[in-house]
Amino acid sequence: MNAVTPHIKKDKKLHIMTWGCQMNVYDSAKMADLLAPLGFGLSDEAQGADLVILNTCHIREKAADKMFSELGRLHKQQKQETVANRPKMIGVAGCVAQAEGEQIMARAPYVDMVFGPQTYHRLPEMVAKAVRNKGGVIDTDFPIESKFDFLPTETAGQGPSAFLSVQEGCDKFCTFCVVPYTRGAEYSRPVSAILAEAQRLIDSGAKEITLLGQNVNAYHGAAENGQICGLGQLIEAVAKLDVTRIRYTTSHPKDMDDALMAAHRDIEKLMPFMHLPVQSGSNIMLEAMNRKHTRDDYLRVIEATRKATPHIAFSSDFIVGFPNESDKDFEDTLQLIRDVNFAQAYSFKYSERPGTPAASMAGQIPEDVKTARLAALQELLFSQQRSFNEGFIGKTIPVLFDRHGKLDGQLLGRTPHMQSLYVQDGTRNGQGMFGQIANVKINHVTTNSLEGVIV
Ligand code: SAH
Ligand code: SF4
Ligand code: F3S
Repeated sequence: MNAVTPHIKKDKKLHIMTWGCQMNVYDSAKMADLLAPLGFGLSDEAQGADLVILNTCHIREKAADKMFSELGRLHKQQKQETVANRPKMIGVAGCVAQAEGEQIMARAPYVDMVFGPQTYHRLPEMVAKAVRNKGGVIDTDFPIESKFDFLPTETAGQGPSAFLSVQEGCDKFCTFCVVPYTRGAEYSRPVSAILAEAQRLIDSGAKEITLLGQNVNAYHGAAENGQICGLGQLIEAVAKLDVTRIRYTTSHPKDMDDALMAAHRDIEKLMPFMHLPVQSGSNIMLEAMNRKHTRDDYLRVIEATRKATPHIAFSSDFIVGFPNESDKDFEDTLQLIRDVNFAQAYSFKYSERPGTPAASMAGQIPEDVKTARLAALQELLFSQQRSFNEGFIGKTIPVLFDRHGKLDGQLLGRTPHMQSLYVQDGTRNGQGMFGQIANVKINHVTTNSLEGVIV
């Protein structure tokens, strides 16, 4: 099932710009699959496209500003291309659309469709409606039906490394976070639907599948026998398919269980890497963030997982400058980082998200303090990341090549521990290794990447 509906002529161009997390990347791929039967083929450029969709993210400050400035650019194109007698349609999707649908239509009335992460399965109807009504379609419900039941099974595929959403939404309500408001309540897809989709991804060339969810280790989907299955069991089932590598993201410390740790110990296809956001090392901050775990809970999870799988590597997310964060709270975070030793991490200055409890808390931290703390935190994290990478110099490790580099013949890929790696000559015995796993001898590393030669 490699081709998408081959009998349909793709005489219209679709361009999708994707911001935010992997769930958005997955959703964009599904939007393309949904629109293929209507004659839309993917284009790399907004210029000349019949339909442009902005798939937006609301997690950072200025997300809406960024979107409106992109819309301004598209509006100019829309006017020019309408003059050339080709009305161009514009759609806004994703988490900003969900949170600010009405404002988008009011401020940018030239936008044809606004829809959220849980309604894009209705995209073909929306396009038809927008054509009939000349725009103005808003669909930001949280429908009772699950979009997954309406997504097409035919897929263009995602290449050697593919995403598969298994769990969506969030019921945790961390006080800084918009996700529970933009993605809705937590929902787990049934096991059989996931396995069928995994098989289709494999048929279209996937060697690696990353199971996605905002709280992926809270997964509790129904199995064929009616029993509820956790993430550990789901991974076991996916591992029986003809896939070479399995990953999953993002996990929550509170949802770690023995079955997932056992999966790391027993299933070779499951890569030895875990992204486990902690946000802060201070119990006072964790409580104010409503994270539902303490610093010690987190350290215990790390210790138990390392005991089961000694070579596992950890990554995390950190927020500095949450309201009322003191120097002592910040020092607790630095100490937690020293205690764990991370292979990589993402770190952010706290930013007020409208409508979240933390946005109206007293004790907001001045920008210069946030900036200084972020710099200190990143210095420590980057030094850990660099020494982690340096440990691989001279070693030979298996790499899945999933992207082409800028220079001719260059290939980019990922190591089992999720490091970015590149080789200058992406061939073995003259044979191109794109989409394949090859052993690479590492001869040079930086903080952000590894370089080596295929052996
Ligand atoms: N579900 C995941 C993360 C989702 S959002 C989890 O529970 O960890 C991805 C990351 O963005 C978060 O881990 C957090 O570090 C960051 N983030 C979310 N809201 C933020 C805000 N208001 N300010 C700064 N960083 C934020
Ligand atoms: Fe946001 Fe917290 Fe849910 Fe993660 S667990 S998505 S940070 S509310
Ligand atoms: Fe952003 Fe929505 Fe993902 S806010 S991080 S795109 S869930």
